[in-house]
Amino acid sequence: MKLILLIILFLILPATESKTSYFTYEEKQTENPNPPLVYRTDYWDDNTLFAQIVRKDYLSPNNAGMTWVERYLSIRTIYPDGNVEAFDVSADVLGIQPFNFGIIFALDLLRNPIQVYAIKNNYLLVTYTVATNISDVTTYEDWAMVLDLSGNVRSKSFIGQAYVDPIGNQWLPFTAEITPNINRDKGFLRIVPKTTTNDLGLQQFIV
Ligand SMILES: *[C@@H]1O[C@H](CO)[C@@H](O)[C@H](O)[C@H]1NC(C)=O
Repeated sequence: MKLILLIILFLILPATESKTSYFTYEEKQTENPNPPLVYRTDYWDDNTLFAQIVRKDYLSPNNAGMTWVERYLSIRTIYPDGNVEAFDVSADVLGIQPFNFGIIFALDLLRNPIQVYAIKNNYLLVTYTVATNISDVTTYEDWAMVLDLSGNVRSKSFIGQAYVDPIGNQWLPFTAEITPNINRDKGFLRIVPKTTTNDLGLQQFIV
């Protein structure tokens, strides 16, 4: 089975005509029969964009509100000239614990513990969760790593305690909102609800 990611680039240039170009990029078929899915895309100021690709793990069946995806971080970077660069780095190499690869459906949202954002000039910010005891949500911490576009880890930092929903004492990933500064070189803002209060935490990060 051949799977093709159809990428459509719309380049909207101020004060000139807008341009649309189409090209196709073919994903390699692995032993996993599930198709690659584009989970998220984001872009930098120079119109380079990336797609975060996930594949459902065909060895782990879905169960109550949880979908397991393959334990890779898969990024396809698409440059304005149509070149595509791909990397697939395993969870082991990145040091991301396996429980991050379960996408949870909770409070009307698909919550992937692994989120990727475009920061600075062509760096990726990857947020994920670290647990010292998987069975104890009070030990869950949100971390972020900075990767270059070849998938090399440049740094890792603790960003805060993970959000735990007081109802059912459930860990709720993807509750933080991360917004790059208008000048991406100056870092990003992170807004996150605080467990058991009505407070929102606002943090500024310089990358
Ligand atoms: C991990 O957390 C569970 C649930 O709170 C607890 O029963 C267990 O003793 C903890 N394990 C360790 C090694 O602390």
